[in-house]
Amino acid sequence: MKYSGYAFIYTIGCQMNVYDSEKLASILNACGFEKTEDMDKANVVVCNTCSIRHKAEEKAYSFLGRFARIKKKNPNLITVMAGCVAQQEGEKAFERVPHLDIVLGTRAFSRFHQHISAIQSGRSRIVDIEDSPMIYESLPDTAGFEKNKVSRFVTIMQGCENFCTYCVVPYVRGKERSRKPENIVEEITLLSDSGVKEVTLLGQNVNSYGKKEGEISFSELLKKINDIDGIHRIRFATSHPKDLSMDLMHAIRDLEKVCNHLHLPVQSGSNAILKKMNRGYTRQQYLDRIFELKNQCPDISLSTDIIVGFPSETINDFNDTMDLIRKVEFDSIFAFTYSNRSSAPAAKFSDQIDEKEKLDRLNLLLQLQETFNEMKNKTQIGKILEVLVEGKSSKKRDGFEQFEKNMEQMTGRSVSNKIVHFPSSRVNIGDMVRIKIENAYPHSLWGHPEFD
Ligand code: 5AD
Ligand code: SF4
Repeated sequence: MKYSGYAFIYTIGCQMNVYDSEKLASILNACGFEKTEDMDKANVVVCNTCSIRHKAEEKAYSFLGRFARIKKKNPNLITVMAGCVAQQEGEKAFERVPHLDIVLGTRAFSRFHQHISAIQSGRSRIVDIEDSPMIYESLPDTAGFEKNKVSRFVTIMQGCENFCTYCVVPYVRGKERSRKPENIVEEITLLSDSGVKEVTLLGQNVNSYGKKEGEISFSELLKKINDIDGIHRIRFATSHPKDLSMDLMHAIRDLEKVCNHLHLPVQSGSNAILKKMNRGYTRQQYLDRIFELKNQCPDISLSTDIIVGFPSETINDFNDTMDLIRKVEFDSIFAFTYSNRSSAPAAKFSDQIDEKEKLDRLNLLLQLQETFNEMKNKTQIGKILEVLVEGKSSKKRDGFEQFEKNMEQMTGRSVSNKIVHFPSSRVNIGDMVRIKIENAYPHSLWGHPEFD
């Protein structure tokens, strides 16, 4: 059945959730609901949730709490909790959020339109946390995608079977499955036709793409995407250090559209902790891969994820992590304090670390990394970087108004994923411009277009 009205979607969490929300928007669009940024105007409100850390889960519940107020004003409003917390909680979600209509798990998307119809016909409280074979292939493609974006995410695989002991992903996103290469290529071709210049391929462990299905390898998939006209840049996340292949290093080195950047989560620099995390590699094996990578791709920019305060992490373990950061010299780091997730095995590990101690360690680590961020960025001064323009910068650089009259401060990213701000009066979103870098800060670069 077709309805007409508006849908508001609030997304919490990772890039995969951003992509999932676009798919949800496409389904709602096919049902007749147009996307709106105004929650008060909506006929359907969706909160796409994340359960990776306690904070994300609390953010979801705090947002879902707002549904009560708007539902009071508009009793016909359809309220939906989607994603990882929905998958984890199922029926229990109603205890904390009684005014919910639909609890939609991570693999139930293909049945979403039926649930919307059922609620419209008078049913209440639908929970769907069942599996479906491959969630993305049967869904409408780009209809719900925000227009005028030059860079897009494309999920190429779902689930994870690595079972790191701190992580909920294997429990909330299920078994690892890869999408068919032809469907991925078709989706990216459609995106390219609509003006997209850069795609980021998403999966929990892209290095094992297609292995189970006997499909082409991840490097072969990269080659196919490299051949799509109109796409200028290919990024991907995440690679698991235990599976990072020589083939992939060569793909980064040789395929001109594949960006010179790798996100390779290490999580800890201590062998004892890596073992307890079930990561499947040692500190030395990680370092060997990094040095091989630097050997193959000398200018590669590197980022990582780190968890501090994992159960039983001693000061020596933590110092091993600090030491690894010094050895690798990452361009940037995403660091988190360990968050106890009841469905993950580490919740039952002894020697849980005090919250304040975790925060102290996190601050030390971030302080250390700040110096590397700046040091790495400073090496870019004087270089000319190709920047894909993403929009106007919201935060103006000090002195901008004074010095750059009649110009907009624009922003974009370099191939190595660095944020670059620059003044210009004549570039458009989606343009590739060459920027001469004049200044470097810990989290961004500043320069002028070569032609201005
Ligand atoms: N606590 C803290 N950080 C976590 N991550 C995953 N699970 C947890 C947890 N329980 C981090 C890891 C992962 C990133 C996406 O989130 O570093 O790479
Ligand atoms: Fe979680 Fe480990 Fe899978 Fe990443 S690889 S999603 S950290 S279980």
